Amino acid sequence: EKGGFPSFMDKEIHDQPQAVADTLLGRLDIDGKLTLDEMHIDETVLKTIDKIIVIACGTAAYAGQVAKYAIEHWCRVPVEVELAHEFRYRDPVVNEKTLVVAISQSGETMDTTMAVRHARQQGAKVIAICNTFGSTIPRESDAALYTHAGPEIAVASTKAFLSQVVACYLLGLYLAQLRGNKFRDEITTILEELQTIPEKVQSILDNGKQQVQALAQRNQDVGSVLFLGRHVGFPVAMEGALKLKELAYIHAEGFAAGELKHGPIALIDDGQLVIIVVPSKRGRDSLHAKVISNIQEVRARGANTVVIAEEGDEEVREFASEVIYVPQTTTLMAPLLTTVPLQIFAMELATAKGLDVDQPRNLAKSVTVE
Ligand code: F6R
Repeated sequence: EKGGFPSFMDKEIHDQPQAVADTLLGRLDIDGKLTLDEMHIDETVLKTIDKIIVIACGTAAYAGQVAKYAIEHWCRVPVEVELAHEFRYRDPVVNEKTLVVAISQSGETMDTTMAVRHARQQGAKVIAICNTFGSTIPRESDAALYTHAGPEIAVASTKAFLSQVVACYLLGLYLAQLRGNKFRDEITTILEELQTIPEKVQSILDNGKQQVQALAQRNQDVGSVLFLGRHVGFPVAMEGALKLKELAYIHAEGFAAGELKHGPIALIDDGQLVIIVVPSKRGRDSLHAKVISNIQEVRARGANTVVIAEEGDEEVREFASEVIYVPQTTTLMAPLLTTVPLQIFAMELATAKGLDVDQPRNLAKSVTVE
């Protein structure tokens, strides 16, 4: 059942090209129009919403944070992302014009379920993005958009994350199409890029895994790891840090690279391992330049800099002790690629330490208590 892999996590990391492809399947019709069958919320309601709130926990919340950049850009609707347990226990401004998107792999997370109930009581429409057919959260929502990642057995989430980002992107493009924020040909171009993601993820698995494995093995004794990113690379950095905490029990933190000089740079000492997610230079040159200068800042203070960058980016080499290249894509699609080496890094480091990557200590796959 592990498909010849040493762990479910390893298998599920390798399932990702298929998980992304299956999540896209059947949602684009032949002339490029996006159709979401599970969208049982009236189109007129979706046209009038003035705010989107994503509620989720853990990795699912990081998928939401990635999606915020895309949905705001495409739909020009404000998107807030909130941890479900925080949302529930404050007094959030939610009404009939709010669209709540609840993201959950299991569909059974109690914190997220309670937040869904609360949102609906306030009159909001709720769409569930979920991987488990017929589970509580989609049943209690107004509409469901399923991720087709297949069962995720390993406690740490991998393929569900990529599929959640894809599902959120489909939702964002659907709303953009419906609300007339984007022309059909622009949406088609974005969808075309999305469809190249499975083969690009596959190429990371085929060509990059050994390099990351060796890197993890060399670093199995590190005491802490810092992850830096900007824009969509910021939630990716947090996700990379979460994976490392969960699996390898190593203290790790993900920062927005721009925040460095506002505090975290004080942590940088000789030999500190810093993993930096670098945006495409072709996408937004200024964003790329900013991250390069952040790498220089930490390197000047002795950090050991490992860089995740896109193929063809030669500029980063000079500032990195090691570069892990991922295939080229657009700025917004990059998280679907840059997350993969971080998942492998955490898994391989935990494996090198002799830990059980499928069942990390103290964690449960589905958190059904508040
Ligand atoms: C991290 C992880 C958790 C879950 C979180 C939400 O690897 O697995 O952070 O993402 O508990 O779970 P779901 O998506 O089932 O609501």
